[in-house]
Amino acid sequence: MAHNPLTCIILAAGKGSRMMSDKPKVMHEIAGRPMISWLLETVEQLRPDEIIVVSAPDIPELKETVAPHKIAIQTEQLGTGDAVRAAMSQMESTEGDVLILLGDAPLLSVYTLRRLIDTRHEDLDVGVSVLSVELEDPTSYGRLLTTEEDFVLGIIEDKDCTDEEREINICNTGAFCVDAAKIRGWLDNLVNDNAQMEFYITDIPHIAGEQGSRTKTYITHETDEVHGANTKADLAHLEQIVQSTLRQKAMMRGAVLLDPSSVYLSWDTKIGVDTVIEPHVFFGPNVNIDGHVHIKAFCHIEDANIETGSVIGPFARIRPGTQIKKNVKIGNFVEIKNATMHEGSKASHLGYIGDATVGAHTNFACGAITANYDGFAKHHTTIGENVMVGSNVNLVAPVTIGDGAFIAAGSTISKDIPADALAKERSEQEIHKGWAKDNREAQLAKKADTVKNKA
Ligand code: UD1
Ligand code: MG
Repeated sequence: MAHNPLTCIILAAGKGSRMMSDKPKVMHEIAGRPMISWLLETVEQLRPDEIIVVSAPDIPELKETVAPHKIAIQTEQLGTGDAVRAAMSQMESTEGDVLILLGDAPLLSVYTLRRLIDTRHEDLDVGVSVLSVELEDPTSYGRLLTTEEDFVLGIIEDKDCTDEEREINICNTGAFCVDAAKIRGWLDNLVNDNAQMEFYITDIPHIAGEQGSRTKTYITHETDEVHGANTKADLAHLEQIVQSTLRQKAMMRGAVLLDPSSVYLSWDTKIGVDTVIEPHVFFGPNVNIDGHVHIKAFCHIEDANIETGSVIGPFARIRPGTQIKKNVKIGNFVEIKNATMHEGSKASHLGYIGDATVGAHTNFACGAITANYDGFAKHHTTIGENVMVGSNVNLVAPVTIGDGAFIAAGSTISKDIPADALAKERSEQEIHKGWAKDNREAQLAKKADTVKNKA
């Protein structure tokens, strides 16, 4: 079959004022990555000849996020139709299909987009296909005026609907596939005589119809795919949809989620077979967990690798740059950052290990910490194998502890310790026999005197 050129235009220049945010709408994150990246990943699977993202001027973070794809600048936000016009300046192809998508409706599937493209090719005179959905509550969506054979006579924006049209529940998802040879001519005919005084892409079916091309709709039943995010509440709804899919995928791949709805996954979280995730665990981006790991309840984990046999939590915080090797134990109220815990090492309770290397089978006892920051720079702590770091030890970095060393509880260590040495840094303990009893009796007598004097 001959290659049919495909250009994809993604509209992302809108002000997003309903989002009440300082951030461009499509840069808001779903499961840890920008909305626009979800859509780009899907669109890339269609292998289009080019992808053009329409942006408002001066949004460097959007340009960076969509690279290497092209950016077209829409100077003034005059509506979705005007945004497509802006993309035309960058579009090379004048044949085949142009897929027009909204950057704020990022969850469409490859399957649905293929059906939308196929729909445009059902009849020779179909110049436009539009993806629609039947919604119980169609409020805020554009409504489709359709025939029984799914041809579209027009699309009316919510704000322009008559009371009768508002009852229609076939809604415009915002995704269109149009004939590349004709789209420029249709765009020239857009006018902005509507409630929002904008140039609407939704006027294209009507204009195309006047020029002899029909519009057909593909009605999807996958309602979760087509939701748009105009407000923070919409964003939270999309997050729920994505989380539910990610949890299902994790379980299909062999992870055990004891209470799936309380586990927050990132778009790229990888969890191995038979790893158990207890309730209320949050994963930030870039976490890889082997099989047969146990993550206990209430852990927060970002940018970390955790190898098999390890047990983490409850209440552990694993921060970026952490490498946890095999059979490591990290217990409650332990924070680890930019550190490697080698095989069999343990930090079972109440500790901070930052910018450190902890050797195999070393024990980091309760309350021990690395003092890694001097107020200006971070410093590294290197701890050898089989070291006993006693309770409440402060390791003032930079410092190196040799293999097999023993650090007495309560010591503040600021000098290197050779292998197999005992390091103890405490002031001499004093014993004053009977002092506590004498003090107690004196205090009680004082109290009794005060009561007597008041009476
Ligand atoms: C749009 C559709 C509506 C549909 C709904 C589905 C139009 C006129 N309306 O409404 O029929 O039911 O999506 O979610 O198309 N944008 C630009 N430049 C602009 C204006 C918008 O690039 O000048 C971009 C926005 O960044 C956004 C997308 O286009 O990603 C849609 O704009 P938005 O204002 O959210 O349209 P809706 O009111 O949701
Ligand atoms: Mg929208």
